[in-house]
Amino acid sequence: MTTRTALITGASRGLGRALATALSDRGWHLVVDGRDAERLGAAVAALAHPDRVTALPGDVADDRHRAALAEAVGPRLDLLVNNASELGPSPLPALADLRTDDLRHVLDVNVVAPLALVQALLPALRAAGGTIVDISSDAAVEAYGGWGGYGASKAALDQLTAVLAVENPDVRIYAVDPGDMATDMHQAAFPGEDISDRPAPETVVPSLMALIGGDLPSGRVRAADLVPAEASR
Ligand SMILES: NC(=O)c1ccc[n+]([C@@H]2O[C@H](COP(=O)([O-])OP(=O)(O)OC[C@H]3O[C@@H](n4cnc5c(N)ncnc54)[C@H](OP(=O)(O)O)[C@@H]3O)[C@@H](O)[C@H]2O)c1
Repeated sequence: MTTRTALITGASRGLGRALATALSDRGWHLVVDGRDAERLGAAVAALAHPDRVTALPGDVADDRHRAALAEAVGPRLDLLVNNASELGPSPLPALADLRTDDLRHVLDVNVVAPLALVQALLPALRAAGGTIVDISSDAAVEAYGGWGGYGASKAALDQLTAVLAVENPDVRIYAVDPGDMATDMHQAAFPGEDISDRPAPETVVPSLMALIGGDLPSGRVRAADLVPAEASR
């Protein structure tokens, strides 16, 4: 089998890093990003095959950075994971107090950037019979106080994913709700609270691997509803 290639945004911490670790363990080529170059470099150095990784520090909301990511991918892409995400201000403000500039930034990172990456990479994904995974949230479908800006962005991402799936039946495209995870983003949503009872992001990876390696039709899925892949796959 030819070596497969994945682009994972936000792979220096949390879920993106956990997924990059699993894919690198399986020999995948990776293109990864994150804004903090030092943290990204350290994450890549810890992977099984750092020599098979192109790490491009940058912000997914930046047009030139996204163009560089697409160029690094080349003509074929097996997997695009739109994982990098912006929570918005912490503590989470009520919608009445959400600054419109902050909402615009959340939408830029969580909605505009993922679609722009899909647009840039659809030909490469088609060439490889590839898969798109857009990381969503239960905040897209539940009305939690304080989560209005972020939740609206994830609801928009879900809808983009659903319409892209209708328009591109030759590409598998999923919106995935990973569930709560003990990560920096989750801590920012609950400042000062002990979040150690939430599962580690690594616990979600077997479900993502099952989705990536399986043949589920395009759609919105909750990681908790997937049957996790065997650790050896
Ligand atoms: N944690 C949860 O409970 C939870 C629940 C539901 C959904 N999710 C979703 O799961 C995904 C992963 O979240 P996480 O909890 O793993 O987050 P995290 O631990 O905060 O990690 C976020 C990653 O994305 C990078 N990143 C953030 N903004 C970026 C930007 N504008 N451009 C490029 N990279 C950026 C971060 O690196 P830099 O900061 O260096 O850029 C980091 O590598 C997100 O889509 C999130 O919305 C999380």
